[in-house]
Amino acid sequence: MNEQSKDEIIQQCKKETKIYYIDGGRFFSPKMRGINSLEVGKSKIISSPLNILIEWVYFQYTRIRSLFKRLNNWLFPRRPEIVGSIKDAYLTGSLVFPSRYPPAKPIANMPVALWARTKLFGWRKLAEGYTNESGVFKLEFDLREAVSWKNQRKLIFEVHEISRIQFNEKQPYRQFSVFHSQKFPKSDLTGMGYTLREISLGYWNYRTDTTIPRAKLNDDDGDPIQSYSQGREDAMIEQIIPIELTKLKHLEQIELDPDSISIQSIQADYPINLTQCLEKHLPGYSRSDEWFGDRMMNGMNCGTFVKDPNEEGVFIMKYFGICDYDHNDIYALPDVIIRYRLNEKGIPIPFKITTIGALNSLNRDPWQTRDFTPADGDMLWMAAKRIARMTGSLYVEVDQHFTGTHINVEQYAIAAYRNFRRSPLAILMLPHMQEVALINGGADKLIIEGFLPEATAIKASGLLKRTKDVLGMLDWKGWKPMEPISDAHHYARGEKLFMSVIDEFVDKFFTENIDEIIIHWDEVYRFSCDLIEHSVPVFLSDKSLDTMPENLRNQYKERYEYYKAQFGFDDSVKRDSLNGELKTVSRITTKQAITAKDTEDIENLKNACKYAIMQATYMHTWINENQYDELGEVLYSNGGLRFGDKESGVLVPENDLTVAPTPEIATKQLWFANFLSRTEYGFIVSNEDKDVHPDFRNALLSKKEEFLALDIDVNAIESRTNI
Ligand SMILES: [Fe+2]
Repeated sequence: MNEQSKDEIIQQCKKETKIYYIDGGRFFSPKMRGINSLEVGKSKIISSPLNILIEWVYFQYTRIRSLFKRLNNWLFPRRPEIVGSIKDAYLTGSLVFPSRYPPAKPIANMPVALWARTKLFGWRKLAEGYTNESGVFKLEFDLREAVSWKNQRKLIFEVHEISRIQFNEKQPYRQFSVFHSQKFPKSDLTGMGYTLREISLGYWNYRTDTTIPRAKLNDDDGDPIQSYSQGREDAMIEQIIPIELTKLKHLEQIELDPDSISIQSIQADYPINLTQCLEKHLPGYSRSDEWFGDRMMNGMNCGTFVKDPNEEGVFIMKYFGICDYDHNDIYALPDVIIRYRLNEKGIPIPFKITTIGALNSLNRDPWQTRDFTPADGDMLWMAAKRIARMTGSLYVEVDQHFTGTHINVEQYAIAAYRNFRRSPLAILMLPHMQEVALINGGADKLIIEGFLPEATAIKASGLLKRTKDVLGMLDWKGWKPMEPISDAHHYARGEKLFMSVIDEFVDKFFTENIDEIIIHWDEVYRFSCDLIEHSVPVFLSDKSLDTMPENLRNQYKERYEYYKAQFGFDDSVKRDSLNGELKTVSRITTKQAITAKDTEDIENLKNACKYAIMQATYMHTWINENQYDELGEVLYSNGGLRFGDKESGVLVPENDLTVAPTPEIATKQLWFANFLSRTEYGFIVSNEDKDVHPDFRNALLSKKEEFLALDIDVNAIESRTNI
């Protein structure tokens, strides 16, 4: 077969297995209660007609309730005008983030208001304003209007938050909602001033049960601090239901009649993926060296190629396995080092794979090293590539996907929501920061504590520790997109091209909004402080390598050097130390106020914003949407091959099912790969929630053809990390 027809088949298969959003669902078809009802095992799917009927009644109730709310707003509008003209009384107090140790951190620039309701339920605004930098508010109002006989007995103090940023034509606007309200009797207004004292709000607080910067997802009353947009919920539910039913069927079958099910029958029940399609049309190609190299470069893995200092033209890629994290003894997960040379098309062709770690259950030595080359024969070379795909998949999912994008973005999201309100940075950043904390909360349960410890070598405690370690190599300062190693390196060329889109968009935004950004620089200062205070320490900065056994010390050093290259971590940058910890995230500014002459501070801010947007969009989308290509065929790739009890261990052909994932793990893996790749929502181009800045969208669309030449569809790039 010539190269052209091979490329045509690959393109055809990519097209055939590309995931599209299909609208569907009928009345008596199964329903789910939302993203939070998903579980790795049997989700709370509702399939009996009675349950569906009850669900329908509940749905009607929520619809009527929201209709009633709208009617209520129409009947009793909240007019923007303030009643009364004499400001002869005031309401004061302060808003703070809860803290175990005083002084509590103030919530600055928070919109607050004082309202009365008439006996006929009308709204009367008495005062409005913002908290100052100490979190203090002082709302002056007309006392006579406040205590008027027309008003109900109690007045209402409200704290508002930005719930969404939206764009109306080109004009952005902040959509506000009530985050907190409290009532007090108007009869209490006996003097000129009345104080509500210090109000501690469960608003975008950091979790205190972990040292990783994570958001506490509920306020003090247990209400969520953020919700998915309705469109996001709907897209997920529409797509996941058929897949959920497939998983349920398999789990029931495994429980009731395990002999009736096999890996093959499980696989056949899920949609065909890219490697299966290739096998149909080009038998053997999906297991070839060329496909292996192409996927490591341009597939889900988007791996890092480091030039071999000892051999011209050789590139080295590393995937670290169990390291010294808590692990089980069921699955293999050695370190893998892959050596490549580029072929005439610029695709890396592997010629040597080194594994470090156990490959069978009989020899558990974690430092045993084996080299594999094509000269070892087909069976061993194929098995070595499969092991490389296995460690590679787990490494990509935990280090690059979950930590590099999800958790990394969450730390910027928390700091942004806590601080950006009056600054135009709320417009720039919040659309790209929303929903990430929510999906990460779901991932904790589903992936970190759910699927991965069950299906791979690393335990949940090990995964959490690993997340913290890798986060200790992720910083905005000095970060640059990956350098392509050849013309065929579409992933890296796309990363650079997308970064140029972000550069254009963010630079323009700063030019147009710099005056307002400077006026509200105090928000940037607090944003920067929050980031640093909650940042994890730099990887290895809190470990004493000297006391470690030599092998472990060398592995740590090797990881540090490789992570530096992979995550663009510049360790020559001077970072803050706080409470004896060298903080990973660099300081943006030391100043609470600046002028236009403080160009270094402004440049830092710009770079930090670009970095966070880049991670939340392109970097996340790439791995997320390619998951099904890679993990959609269980025998091709998975996160855990079992040792079995033979000396051959994992060095066996694919058809030896004694080391393959069990049927239960297989259906869960396919369910996951589908769920994560298939339920994307919130794209930059389609802008479903009208929250993407038109300049960003236009800058991306203007490079549509350039992206297409790299096989990248701009329509598939998400504006936020929410799956
Ligand atoms: Fe994701």
